[in-house]
Amino acid sequence: MQILENQSLKNHNTFGIDAKARYFVEIDSVSTLRSVLQLAHDYPKMFVLSGGSNMLLTGDLNALVLFINNKGIEIVSETDAHVFIRVMAGENWHEMVQWTLERDFGGLENMSLIPGNTGTAPIQNIGAYGVELKDCFVECEAMNVASQEIRSFNKEDCQFGYRDSYFKNEGKGTYIITSVTFQLTKKNHLLNTSYGAIESELNAMKVTLPSIQDVSRAVIAIRQSKLPDPKVLGNSGSFFKNPVVTKEAFETFNNTYPEAPFYKVSDETYKIPAGWLIEQCGFKGKRYGDAGVHTKQALVLVNYGNASGEELLALATRIMEAVAAKFGIAIAPEVNVIRN
Ligand code: EPU
Repeated sequence: MQILENQSLKNHNTFGIDAKARYFVEIDSVSTLRSVLQLAHDYPKMFVLSGGSNMLLTGDLNALVLFINNKGIEIVSETDAHVFIRVMAGENWHEMVQWTLERDFGGLENMSLIPGNTGTAPIQNIGAYGVELKDCFVECEAMNVASQEIRSFNKEDCQFGYRDSYFKNEGKGTYIITSVTFQLTKKNHLLNTSYGAIESELNAMKVTLPSIQDVSRAVIAIRQSKLPDPKVLGNSGSFFKNPVVTKEAFETFNNTYPEAPFYKVSDETYKIPAGWLIEQCGFKGKRYGDAGVHTKQALVLVNYGNASGEELLALATRIMEAVAAKFGIAIAPEVNVIRN
């Protein structure tokens, strides 16, 4: 184990923010993680980093940054119809999804090309095109930061919600996820193509009887057409969550803006796409210095090169204020805004 000092995190966060870590250590195994956590008291504080795809660093980190990079995928058991795979936290999410598709294991295809690593996926119950992580999730293992004991969390323990889980609430800062186990199908795959854009993409691809690999290809094409590649243009996917409002608030909104898209969540709640609200406020494609709003999807903030975390945060604040003033609806960041 090697502890580096004053390490730039530019290549460790998909926004490409050039913040520095006072101390930095790569975690390549569960035993390294245990050893590092035992040294915790020697450092100002600890900060856990993985794919860096869901965070906005607003300054240097006076901390020991733990870069979670433990690798490995194994089949733990299988039946005639299902396979259970255990994936170590540092595995890149999309590469892992491709690994499953190469073996014709179904379940994760709609979540192709989501940036980030597998170990952080349960924290916000990642999702796309009608499927969420929780749909294939069996359990995850996590190390208690204080005691270094490994605990297993089943689906119920994780309390998954829309971009939400136990690890974002009561469990925040207490555990570091070390592996995730998924249940996938080996045959009779359940395809989820009902999300509008997938059907039309499959039609455009002239696919009539889609395989899970076709669904993945369609999702990749849709994402590439709307969402910027972080390697080309710094970003963190959807910067804001779609607001969930009461039926009453929704009805008032819908009467004024009948053209606005919406999703019914339950009899009492409705989700309104934040991207639509932001676009209506005139922000789509706007650029302030190197901080901007993506031209093709207003929910995504982008770094054109040298934007600081503070500049991106100022833009986010401006957007939240404009949406609140125009629609009376509060939108909140989906990404973790890191303040030192
Ligand atoms: N819309 C606009 N203008 C925009 C963007 C969107 O009018 O600039 C409208 C679209 O026309 C559509 C609606 O808003 O009617 C929803 O847009 P879209 O289908 O692109 O999805 P989203 O609600 O913006 C969510 C997730 C994405 C996920 C997609 C597809 C959240 C916060 N975001 O976006 O997740 O890929 O659905 O399932 O829930 C992420 O979390 O990083 C992410 C990219």
